[in-house]
Amino acid sequence: MPEPDWDRWRGEFPGLRKSVYLNTCSLGQLSRRSRAAVRRFLDQWQAHGAAAWYSDWLKELDQTRREFARLVGAAVDEVAVMPNVSSALAAISSSLDFAAHNRVVACELDFPTLCHHFLAKEPLGVSTAILSSPDGVHVPLEAFAEAVDERTALLAASRVYYTSGYLQDVAALAEIAHRHGALCLIDDYQGTGQVPIDVKQAGVDFLVTGGLKWLIGGPGVAFLYVRRELIPSLRPTVAGWFGQRCQFDFDPRNMEFRDDAGRFEAGTPAVAALYAARAGLEIINAIGPANLRLRTALLNQDLAGRLQERGYRLRIPADPGRHAGITAVPVENPAGVTRALAQRRIIVDNRPGVVRVSPYFYNTPEENEAFALALDEAVRRGRGAGRRAAGVL
Ligand SMILES: Cc1ncc(COP(=O)(O)O)c(C=O)c1O
Repeated sequence: MPEPDWDRWRGEFPGLRKSVYLNTCSLGQLSRRSRAAVRRFLDQWQAHGAAAWYSDWLKELDQTRREFARLVGAAVDEVAVMPNVSSALAAISSSLDFAAHNRVVACELDFPTLCHHFLAKEPLGVSTAILSSPDGVHVPLEAFAEAVDERTALLAASRVYYTSGYLQDVAALAEIAHRHGALCLIDDYQGTGQVPIDVKQAGVDFLVTGGLKWLIGGPGVAFLYVRRELIPSLRPTVAGWFGQRCQFDFDPRNMEFRDDAGRFEAGTPAVAALYAARAGLEIINAIGPANLRLRTALLNQDLAGRLQERGYRLRIPADPGRHAGITAVPVENPAGVTRALAQRRIIVDNRPGVVRVSPYFYNTPEENEAFALALDEAVRRGRGAGRRAAGVL
């Protein structure tokens, strides 16, 4: 496959002219394609009113589903389009029987919503084991293997940890879960798009992910993959009319779930968000996840090298093959440093103890250098201010 013309793709994102934007793990950039798609939605709304549902909007829902299925190697009928990952988790967990197996295994590096979701079920008897990380970067597979047992209903794990960028071996996790008769759910919000995944090869049961980061589709749309063989046995108790086989019969007494993963959808989708999301997915599919991974890995290694040369001790995976596009830089006062950088129009974000930097295909090594230079200055100034505040100077 020929290498994509990265300069041309960069031109799709006019916002990149205004700042050094290294924060895709928080929010991907807006493309011209997404902007044009949302404008199309507005035109349809104005021109057709409610008829737009039938002329265009329901088709848009299915096209978005199709585009996502293609990206992750799923069949179209294994994908539900959801408003966010938290609702996808709710739909799935509402379908599981925790009476016989009441244990969920997750870890402290997962995005909190994953753990919070199951902790909230404690009053219903669900017990959530949150595994610790030995280094703040990863959790070894052995720890999962030890924690999952015959009581376990679900192993819920991230493929890419949102602070360290560590790329977890999800096929191995699925194998661990299945060995004990448990199911495996992957939160792939920080992975889909930037690192290829084939849900069939990975052997996972569920995959949840959202559109606003590495899928450059903006907020309001998330995706849920459910392995086909499981669908008929799962009956969500969080439900709504979009999940019904005869949605337009308007019969409140007849409740028959759709046969496909659409049964996990509940109410009216945010249509403007669908337009932005599909346009983002089209770009990701056009470039191809393999190309995206190569480019992002290159930019990350470039960034890590520049920072390490300057003496920063990064909180990243030791093996570059396990490092996805997030680089955590431990600094004092990360929020202050992030603000100081933003004043110079260098956009990153922060999490406890670290500044998080996440170059994507549309970034350049020159932007990495601009960030590294400005970081040095912000850290130096921060130290000076700290000493002044402490009366040292
Ligand atoms: C790994 C991961 N999961 C989930 C979420 C958010 O979930 P939700 O769509 O429910 O807001 C994020 C957001 O930052 C995330 O990084």
